[in-house]
Amino acid sequence: MALLKKVDIFSGLKDKDLKKIYALAIEKTVRKGDYVFLRGTFGKVLYVVIDGLIKIEQPTERGKVKTLSILGPGECFGEMAIITNLPRSASAIALEDTKLFMLKREVFVSHLQNHPEISLRIIEVLCERLTEANEQIKSLTFDSVAARLANNIVSLAEKFGENEGSSWRIRIRLTHQELADLVGSTREIITRTLKLFQDEGSVEVDGERNLWIRDSQKLAQWIK
Ligand code: CMP
Repeated sequence: MALLKKVDIFSGLKDKDLKKIYALAIEKTVRKGDYVFLRGTFGKVLYVVIDGLIKIEQPTERGKVKTLSILGPGECFGEMAIITNLPRSASAIALEDTKLFMLKREVFVSHLQNHPEISLRIIEVLCERLTEANEQIKSLTFDSVAARLANNIVSLAEKFGENEGSSWRIRIRLTHQELADLVGSTREIITRTLKLFQDEGSVEVDGERNLWIRDSQKLAQWIK
């Protein structure tokens, strides 16, 4: 129950209403690398990340992928198909072993009708995602790969970073290909750009593949 309190779209609800939702939620664990659903399929379930990480990605017909977002504990996904009755607009894949809550459409819609504050929170979440998507469009149109990589590293640190002294450690371990899918580039260019950042001392990838921001001011200069 305590877990549901931390879920952004349920944040305004009283304990008794959270209890009702909790009683109707179905728990599901997905293993690292498993798809929760694929773009284009029909689905009538809303998902909430309880523990772990979910990558939302847009695949192309030619086998390439653009990562739209990485979602962590407390964030929901799958709300769009439920609201619009259209197929899933993107695929969802577990970046690590991940615990989810699933809420069936009927349960979710009946709570929406009784609790307009949930609708308001969903609108807020959708607006935040639209703002982020607009930023991505601008960045993909005008920024260099180095600027985009620096920007994404800072965003990852803001969302998933742990402060250690003057450094930030990003607690998600992403491969160079996964970073390329996020930034909208190729693995080779990301490897080269990360080396550039490491040589200047702004970023470090340690032996356990942890990404560190060592000098945030130096890194920020790429973004300007
Ligand atoms: P749905 O279309 O049901 O399935 C894919 C889900 O990915 C979608 O609902 C949203 O929950 C989520 N999603 C789609 N686009 C984005 C985005 N740009 N940022 C974050 N999440 C997204």
